[in-house]
Amino acid sequence: MIGSEIREMIEYYRRQGAPQDQQMIIALLREVQEAEGGVLAGYVIEAIAQAYGVKSAMLQAIIRRIPTLCCEDAPHRLEVCGTCKGGAKLRDYIERTYGVKSGGVSREAGFVYRVTPCMKNCKNGPSVRWDGTLYAGADEALILRLVKG
Ligand code: FES
Repeated sequence: MIGSEIREMIEYYRRQGAPQDQQMIIALLREVQEAEGGVLAGYVIEAIAQAYGVKSAMLQAIIRRIPTLCCEDAPHRLEVCGTCKGGAKLRDYIERTYGVKSGGVSREAGFVYRVTPCMKNCKNGPSVRWDGTLYAGADEALILRLVKG
């Protein structure tokens, strides 16, 4: 699930001529990548493709052509709030269990891992997002369930 910020970007670039104007698609991908912390997640690319009625393979081809665009090498994204009370223990569990550091990929478990600023869900932390969906009160069992699908 993509957030409202990315939906607004998609609509903005539609008004600028995307998807027919490829320069506008590239501009959108750059902006989304920056908003997403430097990498384009597979589910975000899929959401953009659906919104514009194009194939995600077409967007992937553009991304491969532009050196500054970067596509994740994993089907899922796990984000963990870096400031939640109790979050340090959860981050430590994830990093030990899956052998990842923030910004890294667990190819075995199939996710990109990122520690983020506050997710604005502080009272219900620790907060995590899995493919953009926010989960409150996250613990090791939740992470296991998400990873196993
Ligand atoms: S401190 Fe984690 S959601 Fe705000």
